[in-house]
Amino acid sequence: MNIYVDLEKNAYDIVIERGALKKAGEYLNLKRKVFIVTDGGVPEAYVKQVASCCDKAVTVTVNEGESSKSITVWENLLKRMLAEHFTRSDAVVAVGGGVVGDLAGFTASAFMRGIDFYNIPTTLLSQVDSSVGGKTAVNLGGVKNIVGAFYQPKKVLIDPDVLQTLNLRQLAAGMAESVKMAACFDKELFEQIETGAAYEDLDTIIQKSIAIKADVVIKDEKEKGLRRVLNFGHTIGHGIEAQGGLYHGECVALGMLPMCSATVKRRLEAVYRKYGLPLSTAMKADSIIAAMEHDKKLEGDTLNAVFVDTVGSFEIKKISIEAFKKQIKDYYL
Ligand SMILES: NC(=O)c1ccc[n+]([C@@H]2O[C@H](COP(=O)([O-])OP(=O)(O)OC[C@H]3O[C@@H](n4cnc5c(N)ncnc54)[C@H](O)[C@@H]3O)[C@@H](O)[C@H]2O)c1
Repeated sequence: MNIYVDLEKNAYDIVIERGALKKAGEYLNLKRKVFIVTDGGVPEAYVKQVASCCDKAVTVTVNEGESSKSITVWENLLKRMLAEHFTRSDAVVAVGGGVVGDLAGFTASAFMRGIDFYNIPTTLLSQVDSSVGGKTAVNLGGVKNIVGAFYQPKKVLIDPDVLQTLNLRQLAAGMAESVKMAACFDKELFEQIETGAAYEDLDTIIQKSIAIKADVVIKDEKEKGLRRVLNFGHTIGHGIEAQGGLYHGECVALGMLPMCSATVKRRLEAVYRKYGLPLSTAMKADSIIAAMEHDKKLEGDTLNAVFVDTVGSFEIKKISIEAFKKQIKDYYL
């Protein structure tokens, strides 16, 4: 299946197909010099498969985890590209999850003011969300995604088969981002996640989630309005993520709970139990708020907060920072 992300001069296709990894050479223009970025937890076979399709591949494997989204790692990637004499007609390919995608995309955006970037997402989270939309970034000074660029990929290649090697906890963390899309936009998708056998029809879940993401991005590429909805659960989630120990998707799951009606909360909690997502955190409200303040999320007098009162719909409300803090305190004490 193909989804066309119509962003005029930045338009691109998302290919979703089991076995697509083996056909990377058919779908992507790899008959050139290619800088492949991956991390130590991505099965080597996937990376070798992509490398085998390239005229010349230079592969860099960064450490697993959020710490690789740093200026130092980003600089090292750029230095390596320079040392290997990459030019503007070459390409960067990410083979990995959201960490690798954000890092490699930002590297591609900066090298010689931007060279072609392909994303081959290999986690559920990156297949349902982060590989599409062109947000690329690294963290700085403990502030998440604070340095980055909007830089759209030239193509996204999603092969659900690669998820076979992903552990259940990582699958659940990815499912949290699908739950987010479904809660805001698609009550049937939510019902499927809620009532179907877990991970039964991942292809449909991936297709529907990424189609929602693509549609939002087409309408608001640079997050001036509608795209803010994709931050549902993230504003608080990033505060929780700062303490470490929980995956990004798990923190997003926790971040959604205080931002919805009692009915939606009950349904979310049932979904979390089903997939093994956390329902609570040992982190107290004051620490979450302190982390959010450090993360520059609570600057000024107001913020745009996403609320879900009924599954399948949402509201973006400008609320005072004080009211928002109260919401967190009421929930997380
Ligand atoms: N750019 C965006 O729009 C956007 C959206 C949502 C999240 N994000 C970012 O995404 C990141 C989280 O991404 P993630 O959840 O994919 O985490 P991740 O990239 O850290 O990947 C999770 C783990 O899975 C391993 N892995 C990857 N593919 C695998 C496979 N097929 N089999 C076995 N193991 C595999 C990795 O080595 C890693 O250890 C965060 O940094 C978050 O900020 C970005």
